[in-house]
Amino acid sequence: MSITFETGCFHLKTAHTSYVFELADGKYPVHLYWGPSVRAVHDTMITRLTRFTEESFSLHEQSLDSLPLECPAFGGSDLRPGMLHLIHSNGTHALDLVYESHKIIPGKPEIPGMPSASGEGAETLIVTLRDQPSKLSVELFYTIWPDLDVLARRIRIHNSGDLPVFVEQAMSVSVDFEAADMDLLTLSGAWAREREPFRRPLYPGIQGVSTERGASSLQTSPFMVLLSRDATETSGEAYGFALCYSGSFAATVNVDQFGMARASMGINPFNFRWKLTSGSSFDTPDAYLLYSSQGLGEMSRRYHAFIHKRITRGLFANKCRPILINNWEATYFDFNEDKLLSLAACAADVGIDLFVLDDGWFGKRNSDHCSLGDWVDDLNKLPHGLRHLSDAIHGLGLKFGLWVEPEMISPDSDLYRAHPDWCIHVEGRERLECRNQLVLDLTRKEVRDYIVAAITDALTRGNVDYVKWDMNRNISMWGADLPADQQQELGHRYILGLYEIMTRITGQFPNVLFESCASGGGRFDLGILCLMPQTWCSDDTDAWMRCRIESSTSLLFPPSAMGAHVSAVPNHQTGRLTPLATRAAVAMCGTYGYELDLQKLTAEELDMIREMNKRVHEWQPTLFYGDFYRLKNPYESNEAAWMSVSSDRREAIVTHVYAQAFPHQKPKLLRLTGLDPALDYQDTETGLVYGGDELMQRGYPLRAAWNDYMSQQIHLLAR
Ligand code: DGJ
Repeated sequence: MSITFETGCFHLKTAHTSYVFELADGKYPVHLYWGPSVRAVHDTMITRLTRFTEESFSLHEQSLDSLPLECPAFGGSDLRPGMLHLIHSNGTHALDLVYESHKIIPGKPEIPGMPSASGEGAETLIVTLRDQPSKLSVELFYTIWPDLDVLARRIRIHNSGDLPVFVEQAMSVSVDFEAADMDLLTLSGAWAREREPFRRPLYPGIQGVSTERGASSLQTSPFMVLLSRDATETSGEAYGFALCYSGSFAATVNVDQFGMARASMGINPFNFRWKLTSGSSFDTPDAYLLYSSQGLGEMSRRYHAFIHKRITRGLFANKCRPILINNWEATYFDFNEDKLLSLAACAADVGIDLFVLDDGWFGKRNSDHCSLGDWVDDLNKLPHGLRHLSDAIHGLGLKFGLWVEPEMISPDSDLYRAHPDWCIHVEGRERLECRNQLVLDLTRKEVRDYIVAAITDALTRGNVDYVKWDMNRNISMWGADLPADQQQELGHRYILGLYEIMTRITGQFPNVLFESCASGGGRFDLGILCLMPQTWCSDDTDAWMRCRIESSTSLLFPPSAMGAHVSAVPNHQTGRLTPLATRAAVAMCGTYGYELDLQKLTAEELDMIREMNKRVHEWQPTLFYGDFYRLKNPYESNEAAWMSVSSDRREAIVTHVYAQAFPHQKPKLLRLTGLDPALDYQDTETGLVYGGDELMQRGYPLRAAWNDYMSQQIHLLAR
């Protein structure tokens, strides 16, 4: 048993970590410890806290305000921001959740309507608390995967009373750290520069990140890390929190009067209120907690392993992915069948596996002004229909992929003309468009059924092997087909609706590879990743920007989850010129593909692409499923570097990029990591042999950069 309950104490033990909490006074779950594993919980751990408890009880007349609580709720004697806030039908806010029972079960119960990690090899503790007067119960779910060192937390609120209760706030997790001398790392960004890392010391009060946009968003990510002040990439303590959710979220840390830090994460309580009717339950999404004693690098590698083993599923889990070409930046909306087929023929000739037809194939869509919702072939562009094009592309030996944006509706569409009430809107108010489109109301069953039927039909008609599922605007003018006292359920109900349609559609096409996208990486989160194994990282395909974006995205996500393409120069987002070899090397840190008109390349460039494609097929098992190490941080220096090492440590692939070239520089040494010091490694390009210890202690001698954005890929094989 990895979860034990002895002398009033729960001990959740994984290979390298322990998470411990007790029942103070037999009533309140109080946090004791989270960190490197301890053999057993001795009385001393409890006694120290009990003393504190007694002191604070006497000082503050039984107040919980000074205790590290596992389930802090507003309305009791803990007066700090907590994880729960409920309003009873008489308008009062009181809540006193007291331990009732617990059970420990093998596996992991599924969360109704929400994706979550698979329960293989897991063990779950469920602690039930009850607020006696209201007959409300709260179940605290703790799941551990002992071999993967991950702890999942979530809660379920159940109303056994006769009257409805309003849930104003229900976070998935709250952890109280005894001392706040830590840093907080979060990711923030924007379109084309997603997920920039920001690290700062904790200070008294509330800090963190959140989004109110109805999607996990371009602007921030449902992920945060608390770090010891001395923590680096390779050393120090890192406590990761990652939410398995795709809607509005909040991830905050509150430092209180005693210098304790309360970290919590979950659905954003802003613009959220759930009517919990008598007999019903509300479930929060999972949050995945992970502790590393060896800095951010070790934390990332453990998250990557967890994602590979428990999040990604289906045919493409733990598999290499086809090399694709997407026509978006090659043609935008300006294409016809001939143009697509000549691009596809060129792609087949250079060893690409999959041709993806992006936006513009349906309705009358010659720009982004119309047709979303009308998933019928545009016979002006494709006179013989989608199936004919798909057959022709298959005939070239390529697989065929298709872009869709199922959640949206254009006001200029047959769907809108037939169902003007199907979009999110407020009666009597102007419907504010964004990218000339409105958002479908996924709380409505008929809307979900329409989407499933229309998209199923298009994918069947197109005989597709791959789908790019896009989403290009956030919700505004919040109004749904719901009663007045449930309007604030829209955000969460939208996400439940989204998960339902994604589950139904992906379930019907188990052999199809799905990639999610939201104006780039605007909904890159673990929730979607449970349903679709890869996500388009960013619309910014500039190689240097991608060094940054992919490097910080890798804090949580493995290369196998990150969509990355080689595009044209000058780059369409930054105007920057970077060498083709660098664009390819950087895209290899993700699910490799192209997004340019190959026909405009020289014969020499096409030869290089052929070579790169061979490389991708050969190296991808290690690039995707090896251990990933960040070596140089492009946010802090003129260089970016990372490497992947196969699990047997016999193969390593290193990528190094210089931003600006500085003339007359001495070649540098790049210290590698993760190799076997006892092995010799041969550089497959130069034939030179290096000791593993030498490469890690002295370093690999890099070429000097004589042009901006030069890169080097080093392939090492043990001899
Ligand atoms: C936004 C995506 O991120 C792009 O890759 C492209 O598919 C466009 N939408 C198409 O409208």
